[in-house]
Amino acid sequence: MGRSDWGTARSAAIWSSPFNLQADQTRRRPAKEIYEIVTDGRIVMPAFKGVLSAEERWAVAYFVKSFGGDQG
Ligand code: HEM
Repeated sequence: MGRSDWGTARSAAIWSSPFNLQADQTRRRPAKEIYEIVTDGRIVMPAFKGVLSAEERWAVAYFVKSFGGDQG
């Protein structure tokens, strides 16, 4: 991979909006799956395993599970 490709990857990371976590797709996910996404990141989403402890990542997963849907 050449140096210029890293510029493209970085631009994608900067310009992609975070996902709407109230979407049905997210509400259907078990807490463990949300935990894994928060842990390892996803496509342009950064991994949080170096930033948050396992306990904190579980707390984030359950927090996301507590969100209502788009209809409230
Ligand atoms: C603690 C903060 C964050 C949490 C709890 C979180 C949580 C999640 C979850 C649960 C998903 C999966 C959604 C689904 O498919 O059901 C997701 C996807 C995504 N997140 Fe985050 N996220 C966080 C931070 C970020 C940040 C900082 C960015 C921006 C760079 C980001 C960008 C994305 C994108 C673009 C997706 C969609 C990926 C795809 O297409 O599959 N997230 N996030």
